[in-house]
Amino acid sequence: MQHLISMDDLTISQINDILDDANRFKKAKTNPALLRGKLLFTLFFENSTRTRSSFEVAAKKLGASVIHLDPSKSSTSKGESVEDTFANICAMDPDGVIIRHSSNDIPRILADMQTTPVLNAGAGNYAHPTQALLDLFTIKEHFGDTSGKRVAIVGDIANSRVANSIMALFPRFGIELTLVAPDGFMPTEDKFKKVDNLAEIIDSIDVIISLRAQLERHEKPVFDDYEEYASHYCITNEVIGNRDVVLMHPGPVMRNIDISDEMLSDKRSKVLTQVTNGVFVRMAILKLLLLDS
Ligand code: NCD
Repeated sequence: MQHLISMDDLTISQINDILDDANRFKKAKTNPALLRGKLLFTLFFENSTRTRSSFEVAAKKLGASVIHLDPSKSSTSKGESVEDTFANICAMDPDGVIIRHSSNDIPRILADMQTTPVLNAGAGNYAHPTQALLDLFTIKEHFGDTSGKRVAIVGDIANSRVANSIMALFPRFGIELTLVAPDGFMPTEDKFKKVDNLAEIIDSIDVIISLRAQLERHEKPVFDDYEEYASHYCITNEVIGNRDVVLMHPGPVMRNIDISDEMLSDKRSKVLTQVTNGVFVRMAILKLLLLDS
């Protein structure tokens, strides 16, 4: 049984299959009903706009049925453990469960029960593999090849599950990462080049991935004044100038803190392309987990 909890769960060849299938799904005029008769549950313990609906659209495009369980209205709010809620869902014989949780460990714990394929749609600050895969797809689609591309991640890297999954995925595809963040947002690991100022490297990068401050994960406020933070880290026209740089963000974008209004609607911004691509990448991931494994 194949799960997708962190990037380590996928081989390079599986990731290449996902990218190829996503490309085929994007180009196709009609969707094959590959998952007709399949049943998926989504179990989101944290808010979501893009990821939950993207999984649902992806599943439905391939002919699967999707049931949403709203944890705030389910028995977890009466004290049932997540494991028990999951076991009860599994007793209805689904073909997969898509879960988002504030705990880093819950998706892996549920996967280890080996009852149904588990897809991590965001776990604490630990991993968000489908977001990293759709980001990789978007870069590959734009450049044709990922090898040798230079990507700067800017923002709250230390608390970002998206950044963690990107750091685990992109180097496997020849992408060179630079981390751009102030002290409170810089992770402790030493695998990548780190700078506290985007201007230092702006002339030598191909892609900027901007990230939101993960306020819900800060035990105490990291900055009192996000206007001051924005004056250094917001991606604006002044920072980018007329450089040929691709601008990305997983959303939700904090306008004029992460990215300026102007840059968000600039043709170099791929923020909505990422959302479009997310559906095709998740179709490919569902195909891999539910059919090919
Ligand atoms: C991210 C998440 O939830 O981890 N959003 C997403 O899934 N598109 C990033 C974030 O919340 O900042």
